[in-house]
Amino acid sequence: MATLISPSILSADFANLERDLGAISTADYAHVDVMDNHFVPNLTLGLPVFERLAQVSPVPLDAHLMIDDADRWAPQYVEAGAASVTFHAEATAAPVRLAREIRRMGARAGIALRPATPVEPYVDLLAELDMVLVMTVEPGFGGQSFIEGTLPKIRRTREAVRASGHDVWIQVDGGVARSTIARAAEAGANVFVAGSAVYGAQDVAGEIAALRAAAQDAFRG
Ligand code: DX5
Ligand code: ZN
Repeated sequence: MATLISPSILSADFANLERDLGAISTADYAHVDVMDNHFVPNLTLGLPVFERLAQVSPVPLDAHLMIDDADRWAPQYVEAGAASVTFHAEATAAPVRLAREIRRMGARAGIALRPATPVEPYVDLLAELDMVLVMTVEPGFGGQSFIEGTLPKIRRTREAVRASGHDVWIQVDGGVARSTIARAAEAGANVFVAGSAVYGAQDVAGEIAALRAAAQDAFRG
């Protein structure tokens, strides 16, 4: 299984998003954090901005919806051009119906789990999903420190994916940097979101390459 890097544009310059998407053209995806000031105490951007980002991005968009009522909104992000749409388990009434709808429309379907949300209720539903996002910080803000206590959940998720026989990616998001990425990869994550580590680097492309190399070395699929 490939290890993939998805830099979060939450740490980009919001007045220069096209330029900052261009800076991560060597990444596998661009991670776009959509926050509604209800599901999380922060507000970022919505559909009209997302749609333009999809038109100008050199890499496919990985939408992370930190919004209430995901059942209503997530399909519209597929329509707006997302290659992958991840909704929160805590914000959907019908995760399987929603994942099926996202896939039917042609995007990858992901489910995100806050640090205190267990993966166990979802392990029998892995056939319906393309990705599980194990949040490694409380969602809402960039620049927080990696929660080490999420590592056992990453391991249990990888074991469940292996047992299921399905090709489900495991994404980690929050506090991912050179100092933490190997532990997440060793635990079984293969898709790495990094905001401040990538956009805070002097050499953005060099940082993406360094993160990818560290992840590849440590990944246990
Ligand atoms: C947090 C967001 C993350 C955030 C990560 O709620 O989901 O994608 O941008 O930022 P860093 O990498 O700085 O922790
Ligand atoms: Zn995110």
